[in-house]
Amino acid sequence: MKQTLSWPLLALLLFTLLCTCDPAPKTPEESTAATEATTDRAWWKEAIIHQIYPRSYQDSDGDGVGDLRGIINRLDYIKSLGVTAVWLNPIYASPNDDNGYDISDYRAIMSDFGTMADFDELLAGMHQRDIRMVMDLVVNHSSDEHQWFVESRKSRDNPYRDYYHWWPAEKGKPAPRFSFFDVNSDAWRYDETTDAYYLHYFSGKQPDLNWENPKVREEVKDIMRFWLDKGVDGVRMDAFQYAAKDTLFPVLPANYTDDIIAAYGMQPGLHEYLREINAEVMQDYDAFTVAEGAGSTMQDAIDLSAPERGELDMVYHFEIADYVKKLDGYDLVGLKALFTKWDQGLAGKGWNSIFLANHDIARMVSKYGNDTPEYRAASSKCLNTLLLTMRGTPYTYYGDELGMTNIDFRTIDQYRDIAARNGYTAAKNKGEDMEKFMTRLNKFSRDNARTPMQWSAAENAGFTTGTPWLAVNPNHVAINVEAEEKDPGSCLNYFRWLTALRKENPVLVYGDYTPLAEESGQLFAYVRELDGTRLLVAMNWSEEPAELALPEGFDAAKVVMNNLEGEAVLAEGGLSLAAWQAVVVRP
Ligand code: GLC
Repeated sequence: MKQTLSWPLLALLLFTLLCTCDPAPKTPEESTAATEATTDRAWWKEAIIHQIYPRSYQDSDGDGVGDLRGIINRLDYIKSLGVTAVWLNPIYASPNDDNGYDISDYRAIMSDFGTMADFDELLAGMHQRDIRMVMDLVVNHSSDEHQWFVESRKSRDNPYRDYYHWWPAEKGKPAPRFSFFDVNSDAWRYDETTDAYYLHYFSGKQPDLNWENPKVREEVKDIMRFWLDKGVDGVRMDAFQYAAKDTLFPVLPANYTDDIIAAYGMQPGLHEYLREINAEVMQDYDAFTVAEGAGSTMQDAIDLSAPERGELDMVYHFEIADYVKKLDGYDLVGLKALFTKWDQGLAGKGWNSIFLANHDIARMVSKYGNDTPEYRAASSKCLNTLLLTMRGTPYTYYGDELGMTNIDFRTIDQYRDIAARNGYTAAKNKGEDMEKFMTRLNKFSRDNARTPMQWSAAENAGFTTGTPWLAVNPNHVAINVEAEEKDPGSCLNYFRWLTALRKENPVLVYGDYTPLAEESGQLFAYVRELDGTRLLVAMNWSEEPAELALPEGFDAAKVVMNNLEGEAVLAEGGLSLAAWQAVVVRP
């Protein structure tokens, strides 16, 4: 693919930055000692993880569904982004009730996506390019079409019965528990064959596995070894805070939805299960683990990711993602306070994931930025500046390097997501205000983040020659890879600069984080510092100009990154930032 970024210029700039940022020279011994004391390095801390939703990335055979061959064909593009790892959403055999999060065979590839030979080729292709692979492991639940569940539901004395949670009907109807996807919102579903109820926190086709059963844990460990032996480098454990269940099943009100995580998450046993996996599997591989959602309180997060406890390598909490849920925007001061809280809470104790988007939340520019034509590009670049200059491992989401936006769906039949469709039926049954429901869905639905990758202005954005499984965003005529490759000032090329900057500057990975202008409702600014090397990140998260007084030692003339090229930043005694401007400055 045509490369328009001036790499010699970039190399020169980074070289200058490295040379000029270093404080007084140290002897090699001094330098190593200082670094080890403050950092404790690991490849997965330095990684830039790019999340790919395979269903929507690139279709190679015209069936309207993305596939592994499609990703293989795009490996050079992925490499060109400067990311160092790819997290693939589930690609295992599945009846697709929840787009692959309902697995019927953990050792097979979904036929829509290709074959195991394609997988092996994809993994080899990534490794040849020094890109690591992170796989999704969905073991809070399986599909009801998995052989284990097919057996389990056959009879009460089936050897697989205890692989799942069953409640015999003669004990009466179990107290209702909340299900995320069930149209009746009840996680217990009656099954005639054995006159019993089974538990499913997600859809009825996603029965929850019983982690108290050691046989289940052995199965999971074997599955993990199967993929790690192939060379997979990381494991993202789906919905894992729910894996341990409160077996006494406390009674909760039927409409209980207030704090589901507090009620169902992090139950006793979870730490032990993770320690078992770590000691018996992960210790044998140079691979890392992260568990979705686990660690929603600071103490949990520390306990889960403290290296000496041997549980997880990093946490992926939702406090920041959940903070921005209202239709009328959010309070930047509060958002910044959360970043500060998590950075300071985990500093020196555990390790965090940094993300603003994934396949379960709206597009980042539509959620946190401004996706109108005037500000879309600047605000996407600004948000990517945050992702790639914070402490923690950044997770970037496919298409966000282009500034892809939410899609404007108006009717329920345009949605494909089970959460949207079942949520719609549930809301209708409860007599909710459906106009309000549709407005919320329009802004926050998961399908917003799942629309096909925008490769070109061609029909279906170059994603497929067939009919796409989910509509392509009409704005692909303007927002697409082909157009952005040609524009040196595009979001895409700015993203490449940012990944290069992070990789060249360990201060951005390991350095301390000191927030500035904490009370400003416009500025998001901080200093990163490692062993005397400092960088200032200053962003204006608003449509009005803003000024920031420079911290001592920084020089407004030494701007190493600027998302609004040519836009001056010098002001008396500080920086003057235009709407959604982001700069990185050195002393
Ligand atoms: C996680 C996944 C989500 C899925 C759910 C059930 O939250 O990220 O996409 O629907 O688990 O597996």
